Amino acid sequence: MDKVQLYKIIHYTHYTVVTIFLVIYFIKTILLLSNKQEALKKISKTLKVPEMIVSFLFLGTGIFLLTQLPEIKMLMIIKIGLVLLSIPLAIIGFKKGNKLLASLSFFMLVSSFGIAEVHHKRMGAITNDAKSTGDNFDAQNYYSEKCSKCHGDDGKAMIMGAMDLSVSTLDRTVAIQVIINGRGTMPATGLSEKEADAIASYVETLRK
Ligand code: HEC
Repeated sequence: MDKVQLYKIIHYTHYTVVTIFLVIYFIKTILLLSNKQEALKKISKTLKVPEMIVSFLFLGTGIFLLTQLPEIKMLMIIKIGLVLLSIPLAIIGFKKGNKLLASLSFFMLVSSFGIAEVHHKRMGAITNDAKSTGDNFDAQNYYSEKCSKCHGDDGKAMIMGAMDLSVSTLDRTVAIQVIINGRGTMPATGLSEKEADAIASYVETLRK
């Protein structure tokens, strides 16, 4: 398995387990809020092992994805902070049957999930219309239309926290994934691997 696939699989796994985690918490919170103590007990018992597996994967994949970041941005700190804080709140909330704490914890988890998504979507709007197809894909043109607004024509602009591409040492395979899926505040482009490869190769020419 190559690096691209590994990154893809872990990225996908992370999103999947986070979603499952949220669904489990949503059900439990609803049961707590509607005073269904017996049902809550039953479901907590049934889901104990799956929940442990999901939590473990959640943290494991999250830590891996963190190690792939060149630097930790404020948004990421807020996101991690919310997740880390929501865990003890959830434990105490469910143990004591405290509805406020349990709801707060669920709300924090959803917010942390939402923060990155909203950001991606909002910025993603700039790229989707520029999708071009097939062989006449002009990487340089695409770059100056869609990438230079943050990275600048020379790759050095660093607008909106964009990384300086002239000093980037990022491996081609990872760069392709960043270009396709976005990362942090960088929007996803949804380009094909071939197109992303063409752009990644153009971006490498900006290096000193
Ligand atoms: C909305 C601003 C924005 C746009 C538009 C944008 N980027 Fe980025 N780019 C960023 C940010 C922010 C980062 C750092 C991401 C992070 O913190 O993980 C980044 C990181 C990168 C990286 C990783 C560099 C490294 O060394 O890790 C590459 C490669 C890259 N961008 C290429 C592109 C290309 C190619 C395009 C056009 C398709 C593009 N970017 C469009 C903001 C942007």
